[in-house]
Amino acid sequence: MFILRLLIVFFAWSNLLYADDTLAYEEEGKVAIKELAMSLKKSLKTVLKESGPIAAVEYCNIAAVDITDRISNSKSIFLKRTSLKVRNKDNVATSWEKDVLNNFENRKRLGESVNSIDYKEVYTDNNNKSFFRYMKAIPTGKVCLTCHGSNIKPNLRTRINELYPEDKAYGFEIGDIRGAFTIQIPLSN
Ligand code: HEC
Repeated sequence: MFILRLLIVFFAWSNLLYADDTLAYEEEGKVAIKELAMSLKKSLKTVLKESGPIAAVEYCNIAAVDITDRISNSKSIFLKRTSLKVRNKDNVATSWEKDVLNNFENRKRLGESVNSIDYKEVYTDNNNKSFFRYMKAIPTGKVCLTCHGSNIKPNLRTRINELYPEDKAYGFEIGDIRGAFTIQIPLSN
């Protein structure tokens, strides 16, 4: 009886530890996303203001990936941006990410605010390795329409097509889900 009780206490405790762990990973993921979002927004604004949208597209072409990789590597977590309609093929969604993005679209339709739509899960792969996975929706703001809206200026459209012949990331409206940040962190146990 005593052993049973001890076991129950132990399992309750280890579950608690597990929940705490997940919270820590979630916090770590959110910090990385905030850092990336702020970094991208700041660079985009500066280049747009100083050099205009064509230079900004050329800048995004290289810098967005570099900034994402730098933050990802410095924190040893997997971090990227994705969407159901991508401009950059490297950002294409995995099937899990597609499911989550479709679920985000449903939640938006049901009235949830895009600013707070997110999803987390603990996932175990075929090699029995566990990961914390997290996605957070990215809303479309006014500034985004210059390059992701329905009325992209012809000379800008031409440059985007040159860089991204298979571009699908246009036709968005303010308040749409432009895509999502996605995070994967290996669990240490
Ligand atoms: C100056 C043009 C420009 C503006 C303005 C712009 N983007 Fe982009 N965006 C790009 C380019 C170019 C890419 C592809 C390169 C990359 O970032 O990987 C891209 C890619 C993305 C991606 C990654 C998924 C994909 O389609 O490849 C997301 C998410 C995104 N943009 C969101 C936004 C949001 C949100 C805003 C407004 C805050 C915004 N963008 C404003 C040019 C722009």
